[in-house]
Amino acid sequence: MSGKLGLIVGSGASALGLEVVARAPTHTPYGAPSSPILTSEIAGRRIVWIARHGEEGGIAPHEINYRANLWALYQHGVRQCVGINVVGAIEEGFSPGDIAVPEQLIDYTWGRESTFGGRDGRVLHAEFAEPFSRTLTARLVEAARESGYDVRRGVYGVTQGPRLETIAEIARMARDGCTMVGMTAMPEASLARELGMDYAICALAVNYAAGRGPSNEGIHDQIERYLRDGMPRIARIVEYLVREHAASAAV
Ligand code: HPA
Repeated sequence: MSGKLGLIVGSGASALGLEVVARAPTHTPYGAPSSPILTSEIAGRRIVWIARHGEEGGIAPHEINYRANLWALYQHGVRQCVGINVVGAIEEGFSPGDIAVPEQLIDYTWGRESTFGGRDGRVLHAEFAEPFSRTLTARLVEAARESGYDVRRGVYGVTQGPRLETIAEIARMARDGCTMVGMTAMPEASLARELGMDYAICALAVNYAAGRGPSNEGIHDQIERYLRDGMPRIARIVEYLVREHAASAAV
């Protein structure tokens, strides 16, 4: 697998424990990305990443400048992009604390800037039957399993937010085939595809989606707790991935 590896890190970025060693403010034709291009050392390699919700964490899912984020990473040479996301668990048997690498998605978002547009007066219809890169997804699954964690696959339903969903909305999403719910996989995945970048997601479940668990009481405390406990495991997976990526790039 070729090309520089980069990350887009969502909620819980600080719990991932990435020490920033460089910050490159970046401008794009689409405006400013959520954060400068950040550089951290992972497994002895310098890896660039963007804080999806901003370094201070105040950018809501529907306010994220997805185009600028993807463009900025591309400009910095990233061709393999891993999104670190948190999700609510829908599927039975999928619980907070579990890790998932989705294989499909359904997009319920609206009103987001979702294309870079075509060239020479042509509309761009990106091929998107498989929204995640097979090779990068396989590497993530391997990285998780080799790090000692079970990994769920499944279908990521992308909601608009920033509010959480109703019980009826989650029931509908379950009927649609969604096994997890989050707010940020789109248009991130399709913009990556437009740029020809490999893109995959490593997701941490931090709560039961509405109506799926015992109770939605105290959900925000629950989310915080699962973020704090789960992110170090995601960090280990990313470390393994970086090491393997570096090894394969060297041959
Ligand atoms: N719904 C939508 N997005 C989420 C959730 C949820 O329950 N949990 C984490 N991100």
